[in-house]
Amino acid sequence: MKSFVTGLPKVELHLHIEGSLEPELMFELARRNQVAIPFSSPDEVRAAYQFTNLQSFLNIYYQGANVLLTEQDFFDLTWAYLERCRADNVQHCEIFFDPQTHTDRGVAFATVVNGICAALTKAEQELAISSQLIMCFLRHLDEDAAFATLEMALPFKDKIIGVGLDSSEQGNPPEKFARVFAKAKALGFLTVAHAGEEGPAQNIVDAIELLQVNRVDHGVSCAQDPALVASLAATRMPLTVCPLSNTKLKVFEHMTDHNLVELLRQGVCVTINSDDPAYFGGYMTANFMAVAEAFAISNAELAQFSLNAIEASFISQERKDELTQAVEAYLQQA
Ligand code: HPA
Ligand code: ZN
Repeated sequence: MKSFVTGLPKVELHLHIEGSLEPELMFELARRNQVAIPFSSPDEVRAAYQFTNLQSFLNIYYQGANVLLTEQDFFDLTWAYLERCRADNVQHCEIFFDPQTHTDRGVAFATVVNGICAALTKAEQELAISSQLIMCFLRHLDEDAAFATLEMALPFKDKIIGVGLDSSEQGNPPEKFARVFAKAKALGFLTVAHAGEEGPAQNIVDAIELLQVNRVDHGVSCAQDPALVASLAATRMPLTVCPLSNTKLKVFEHMTDHNLVELLRQGVCVTINSDDPAYFGGYMTANFMAVAEAFAISNAELAQFSLNAIEASFISQERKDELTQAVEAYLQQA
């Protein structure tokens, strides 16, 4: 099982690049940039990662991002993630970044985008890993701040395929950003949004209807509403599900309680992703393994998560066909 999962060609669609900051790199960047952090060793950082819900994680995650200051920092962060992609046979990835986490600390939008994109370009050339970049609005901040961030992104529009919505779902429903998303769409950005992670199924409905999203990030609370599940399956609206994140943040108590396999079997376009792997205990292979160990699931079903991610990705039909063939050939020889 482990070797099947490790070698399976994968596509990741839900990865916050700031959430791939490993404690060792956090320490190195803190030293390099002379930023004080309230920990004395990488082990002490790891020991602090005991989360009770989404907010308890976000508080630590935003604090960790303070060590990221220069273009080189964003390059190093992204390159480290791409090396994990190579190890896990992730052949295409779509990466989120949170511009406001950095611009609000005085780091220029260009510094962030140029550092990330330099690593993505190098990975395309040297590792044959393709990628897209999606910028997320922080939903705990207001609509004006999101509009200002959208404005800042315009000079970089050729590098950013879409906009997303992340941070604290409770108290910050999709409707708060309906006008910003309408403008982003009119400008030609694709749209995604975190919905139904800690929030109700209605947030998923609203993300689809009010924000016109192309994919729903998380979306696991859809199970509260059987009519919504049927509609997700009928429309093949993708869900970017993050198994280790969901158990670490207590969305599900145990992996065996998770609903992703049931949703897959109901025909929903479920995908497996790592969300914030440095904080939640693993990258893509670890997430697939956690699912494979918790459920009686076939190789074909595991491969279906990859096929769904290819279907849901923001890439050319030609690249989709190439990746689909790689998955199908792998499944046949396994
Ligand atoms: N949910 C909401 N916001 C986030 C997450 C998440 O899982 N990860 C990083 N920002
Ligand atoms: Zn997320």
